[in-house]
Amino acid sequence: MALSKDPDWWRQAAIYQIYPRSFKDSNGDGLGDIPGITSKAKYLKSLSLDAVWLSPFFPSPLADGGYDVADYRNVDPRLGTLEDFDQMVKALHDEGIRVFVDIVPNHSSDQHVWFQEALASKPGSKARDRYIFRDGRGKNGELPPNDWVSHFAPSAWTRSKNPDGTPGQWYLHLFAPEQPDFNWDNREVQLDFLKTLRFWSDRGVDGFRVDVAHALKKDLSKLNKSYPKIDSFGINQHGKDILFDRDEVHEVYREWRKVFNEYNPPRVAVAEAYLQAKRRMIYARPDELGQAFNFDLLGAQYDARTYKRIVSENLELAKNEGSSSTWVLNNHDQVRHTTKLGLPKGTKVHEWLLSDGKDAPLDRKLGLTRAKAATLFTMALPGCVYIYQGEELGLFEVEDIPHHDLQDPVWYRNIITKRQRISFGGRKPINGVAVIHTEKGRDGCRVPLPWSSSGKSFGFGSGGAHLPQPLWFKDFAVDAQNNVKDSTLEIYRTALAARKKFQSTEELTWLKSGDPEVLHFTRDNGWHCIINFQGKPYTLPKGEILVASTPFKGRKLPKDTCVWIKTDK
Ligand code: GLC
Repeated sequence: MALSKDPDWWRQAAIYQIYPRSFKDSNGDGLGDIPGITSKAKYLKSLSLDAVWLSPFFPSPLADGGYDVADYRNVDPRLGTLEDFDQMVKALHDEGIRVFVDIVPNHSSDQHVWFQEALASKPGSKARDRYIFRDGRGKNGELPPNDWVSHFAPSAWTRSKNPDGTPGQWYLHLFAPEQPDFNWDNREVQLDFLKTLRFWSDRGVDGFRVDVAHALKKDLSKLNKSYPKIDSFGINQHGKDILFDRDEVHEVYREWRKVFNEYNPPRVAVAEAYLQAKRRMIYARPDELGQAFNFDLLGAQYDARTYKRIVSENLELAKNEGSSSTWVLNNHDQVRHTTKLGLPKGTKVHEWLLSDGKDAPLDRKLGLTRAKAATLFTMALPGCVYIYQGEELGLFEVEDIPHHDLQDPVWYRNIITKRQRISFGGRKPINGVAVIHTEKGRDGCRVPLPWSSSGKSFGFGSGGAHLPQPLWFKDFAVDAQNNVKDSTLEIYRTALAARKKFQSTEELTWLKSGDPEVLHFTRDNGWHCIINFQGKPYTLPKGEILVASTPFKGRKLPKDTCVWIKTDK
């Protein structure tokens, strides 16, 4: 199937996120890989997708699930080769599916040749200027340059070692110490990323997901200022924060856009920028990346008022900036929405996860029912929908992975130590130091996919899975849902196919439902979407029912259900 040259193909697309290490393992080493993705091209096609986005598959020591990139223009040998990548792109393109790769520009891995070169070079050298090295405070430079904190570790600074082993300068990392931040004022860094964008575009890649897009530019003249809390969402919205969303970052993306426009159709990119909607949408302007992830529904209350407000606000903002909105309910950093929506109201999701799910009972039936309703609702909205692997199977978060199997730096870096009396196996208590984890991390949504309901790793691969799969995965396996009427997988398939068929202008009209818990809108071709959150059974308009999130009898829409109807107009 030839891909169209339409420069706007992405505006109302369905894009599926693949977390490659957990998608499909072709060689039995327990890690998903590129040939594994190629082998599932037909499956992806069966979801009527426009594109897939691959989380990082580049060489990486895996200090942060691959978001610590050691070589931006290669494939991790554990996941395949560049030839495998080319074959994958061809197989997906042949099925009409485009490919996005993940670009991680804020930081590299500490194993990147440039960082290794920086460590081997002198303070003030050209090699060090590609990163952010500074002298420490204190008599012997033993204190970090300031109090800045990182997302994953207490301090955003780590002291380097000189080549002779003596303690040296400190370097900045907004994430793990193994992820040193680039200095985006350095022209070599800027040019190298242009080279990376061309490298993948020349190989046929259609777009890019841009990791932490809002953090690249920092005000390094303000090193003397305190910045003890890291929360890009809560910053002042003026483009002058020390670390996030500085106005100058847009110069970077305007330069990237020129590269995107060298191709036909132009390449597109989506910004990951945890910011308030208004500032976030600037990244999506036509002379910048094109799209930005809209994360507003991730933590939203499940009710009609909240959903309607978020939708209206984002559609308007997108229109004003010349882009379309995106809709996101899941990704590799988030607790799966099936789980979130099945927890008792008021549950603090992260605390619940930290308790391995013991804090409160999870109502799986309710969670899945609501999750499917929310999904169907977003899929009918004007704009581009992002789906995260396993979502189409109705997977829940795996909340009770044995602690020794966890991999996420969020788990093993967010700790406090406490002096206390500890007793082992009923022995006499001794004074010791207890390590207390304060965050569970993101492994629970990254567990390898179940492809079949039997077999050692549910068809993921012949050699087990790098994160343990729970037994209940068997009921969610692809082969347990294939061609099974009303299975989550078949509902996704029906909805995504209908969405493609009926997609129309980027407008919607809200209709009065007469119930504050029911939202009803139409697109301009007679495609109706109605969601009943917590209302009374809602009488549906005449017309063919295209798909329902949960089957129901008659023409009254029960609560926690969403339906699409096609009328003559
Ligand atoms: C982004 C990624 C996340 C990663 C972080 C650092 O937020 O989505 O997985 O840990 O950036 O690269």
